[in-house]
Amino acid sequence: MKLLIIHGPNLNLLGQREPDIYGTQSLDDINQQISAHAESRNVHITFFQSNHEGELIERIQSAGEYDGLIINPAAFTHSSIAIRDALSSLSIPKVEVHLSNIYQRESFRHHSYSAAACNGQISGFGGHGYQLAIDAIIAQQ
Ligand code: DQA
Repeated sequence: MKLLIIHGPNLNLLGQREPDIYGTQSLDDINQQISAHAESRNVHITFFQSNHEGELIERIQSAGEYDGLIINPAAFTHSSIAIRDALSSLSIPKVEVHLSNIYQRESFRHHSYSAAACNGQISGFGGHGYQLAIDAIIAQQ
C-alpha cells in the first residue's frame, strides 16, 4: 500500500512554532515516527509539505496513483474552498489530521472546509494522529 501525506503551511516550523500548542517535535521527527509506524504495517509513505495553496492543490490533483491521502491543510482548512474542491475530485480514501484539537481553540478554527471532502477527521492527538489515520485507511480497504 502507498500513501501520500501532505503537510500544509507553517508545519515546516513545527518544534519552534507555538510549542505550547504544537509540541516540541520537528516535522522531521514526526515524519520519522510516521515512517516507522508505516513500515510496521508494510505501508510506503511519500511526504509533501508546502506553504503555497496552488502547490498543495497540484499535489492533491496528482495523487490518484496512491491508495490513500492523509492531509493536514493547516490554516487552509478554515479558508480554502479550492483545496476542498481538489479533495472532492480525488476518489481515494482521505483523512484530515490536525495536531491540536481545533474544536478547543478559537471559533474560526471550528469550521473545516476540507473535512467534508474526506472520509474522516482526526484532531487533537499530536503527531500520533497520522498513525491513527494510516490505521484508519488500512481498516477501510
Ligand atoms: C493545525 C490547526 C490549524 O488551525 C492551524 O492553522 C495549523 C495547524 C493543527 O495541526 O493543529 O496551522 O492544522
